[in-house]
Amino acid sequence: MKVIGITSGKGGVGKTTVAVNLAVELANRGLRVALLDGDLGLSNAQILLNARVEYTYAHVLAGVKSLADIIVESQHGVKLIPGSSGSTALSSLTRLQLLGLIHAVSELDDCDLLVVDTAAGISDNVTFLFAACDTKLLLIQNEPASIADAYATFKVLQHEYNLSDVKLTPVRVGSQQEAKSIHGKIDGVTSKFLGLRLGYSTGIRTDKDILEAARQGVPAVNLFPNGNLSQDIKSLADMLLQEDVTESDAGVTFAPGNK
Ligand SMILES: Nc1ncnc2c1ncn2[C@@H]1O[C@H](COP(=O)(O)OP(=O)(O)OP(=O)(O)O)[C@@H](O)[C@H]1O
Ligand SMILES: [Mg+2]
Repeated sequence: MKVIGITSGKGGVGKTTVAVNLAVELANRGLRVALLDGDLGLSNAQILLNARVEYTYAHVLAGVKSLADIIVESQHGVKLIPGSSGSTALSSLTRLQLLGLIHAVSELDDCDLLVVDTAAGISDNVTFLFAACDTKLLLIQNEPASIADAYATFKVLQHEYNLSDVKLTPVRVGSQQEAKSIHGKIDGVTSKFLGLRLGYSTGIRTDKDILEAARQGVPAVNLFPNGNLSQDIKSLADMLLQEDVTESDAGVTFAPGNK
C-alpha cells in the first residue's frame, strides 16, 4: 500500500478538496483507495464524499470499535476512515496513540493506496502523521501567510524528522506557470537558509465550480470532469502513479514490516 500525505502550514488552503478528489480519481482508475481523515479534530472529508459516518476513530480509541467497524464505503468508490468532527481529545493524541492509528491502518489488506488528509499546522499530531507517509504533499497558496507557514512547516519537518522529500503543491493558482514560480521562490529560500532543495508535484488551479460540487455532495472530478480542478488532479494522479514508491525516511512509517 502506498501512502500519500497531504498537509499545509496555514489552514483552509484546500487540503480536503485535493485529498478527496485525488482519492476519487485514483478509485476511478480501478485502484482500491482509502482516505484517512487525519484531521482528527475537525473532520470534513465525509461531507465532500457525502458519506454517512456513524462511528469514528474516537470509538476505536475508546476500545468499543475496531478500525474495520468504522470504515465507511462511500458511494464514490473510496473507503473513508473517519476522524471525529469537533473532538478536542482527538486533536491532541499522544505519539503512542498515533502509532496505534498508523499501525492499525497499515494492516488494511484490501487497499492499494491510502490518502491521508491531515489538519493544518505544525502540531506534533500533524507532523507525526504526515512524516509517516511515503509521498508528502505540502500545499501552499500564493499569499504571504501561506508561504510563511509552508516554509515553517518544511523547517519543522526537516528539523524534527530529518525529512527532505517534501513536494510543494501550490493550490488555487491561476496557472501552472504561477505554481512553478511559487515553487522557485520558496526553493530559493530553503536552499539558502536550510541548505535543502524543496520538491515539487504540480499546481492545482482555482476552480469556480468547487462550491457547487460540495453543495451536491459529488466530488468535482466526477461532477465537472473537464474543469480546472479535475484536469490538475488527473495530472497529479499521473505523477503519483509514475513515481517510485519510497517509504518514509522519518523512522515511522505506515509499512513498518518493510523497513
Ligand atoms: N482549487 C480551488 N479553487 C477554488 N476554491 C477552492 C479550491 N480548493 C479549495 N477551495 C475552497 O476553499 C475552502 C477550503 O477548502 P478545504 O476545506 O479543502 O481546505 P482545507 O485545507 O482542508 O481546510 P482546513 O485547514 O480547515 O482543513 C473551501 O470552501 C473550498 O471549496
Ligand atoms: Mg480540511
